[in-house]
Amino acid sequence: MNAGPSTSPAQAALLAAWREDEQHHHEGWDFSHLAGRLTEDEPPWDFDEECRACLAKSGHVLDMGTGGGERLASLREALPPDTVATEGWAPNLPVARARLAALSIPVEDYDPDAEPCSPMPFGNGRFDLVMNRHEGLDPGELTRVLVPGGVFLTQQVAADDFRESEDVFGLAPRYPDTTLEVVATQLVRAGFRIEASGTWRGTYRFHDVGALVDYLKLVPWQVPEDFCVDRYAETLLGLHASGPAQGNPVRFTKSRFWLRARVNSTPRIASQGIS
Ligand SMILES: C[S@@+](CC[C@H](N)C(=O)[O-])C[C@H]1O[C@@H](n2cnc3c(N)ncnc32)[C@H](O)[C@@H]1O
Repeated sequence: MNAGPSTSPAQAALLAAWREDEQHHHEGWDFSHLAGRLTEDEPPWDFDEECRACLAKSGHVLDMGTGGGERLASLREALPPDTVATEGWAPNLPVARARLAALSIPVEDYDPDAEPCSPMPFGNGRFDLVMNRHEGLDPGELTRVLVPGGVFLTQQVAADDFRESEDVFGLAPRYPDTTLEVVATQLVRAGFRIEASGTWRGTYRFHDVGALVDYLKLVPWQVPEDFCVDRYAETLLGLHASGPAQGNPVRFTKSRFWLRARVNSTPRIASQGIS
């Protein structure tokens, strides 16, 4: 896939610029540095507003997969004093802890996708609201840590997000089960009822290929594990030739769903029973 000896000086300059984007240091979960280079459609619902509405009725709150704590901190006025977060990606743990310590929000180390899976580090019925934006989840653990009647609110990056990656980079979807149908069914089996939900598809527009390279450093699960500018030079030059070189952005599908679920008063499946 290397560009090879026939690379023109203009292509060599592009590759050099993209290598610089590849070296960009990211901290936390923040894409704001790509403003102007990446423009994205947004879903018709406002997930933060959904969270605020639920927070107004909740006293014991968990935010799962808080990233660098950026989004949770942005909700600070709506949070009750008993708010806790989890983060399972080691580089983001200290970032989240540093940001959220100022708000007296502890951050526990927990990765719902870890193998073997482990229980959430909380007792039974610890929360009346669990928020989860773009993080894995274990339905049985959610029913366990929520009180009966408690609420689980999530927005997810759907299985077909970045689906063009299959054609462009040869990568089959990494999370084929992350659909509203599958997740809602799993939650119902675990003892939830679904109160509201929605799905939506839009577009990411990368106005230069370097912005795509930078973005993919933050979401490496959307490209093959060996992705780097030099190994995929030919592919990236092809994206440039058919897109930005002609004044068009590189487009990828953006796909999201959200749902609000409530634990039945008598859960159908008994919890795994740690306290
Ligand atoms: C997609 S982020 C969402 C963060 C936050 N909930 C939000 O909505 O802003 C979900 C999780 O992926 C983690 N993560 C970020 N980069 C990662 C990487 N390269 N590999 C594995 N996990 C990563 C984040 O730290 C976070 O816990």
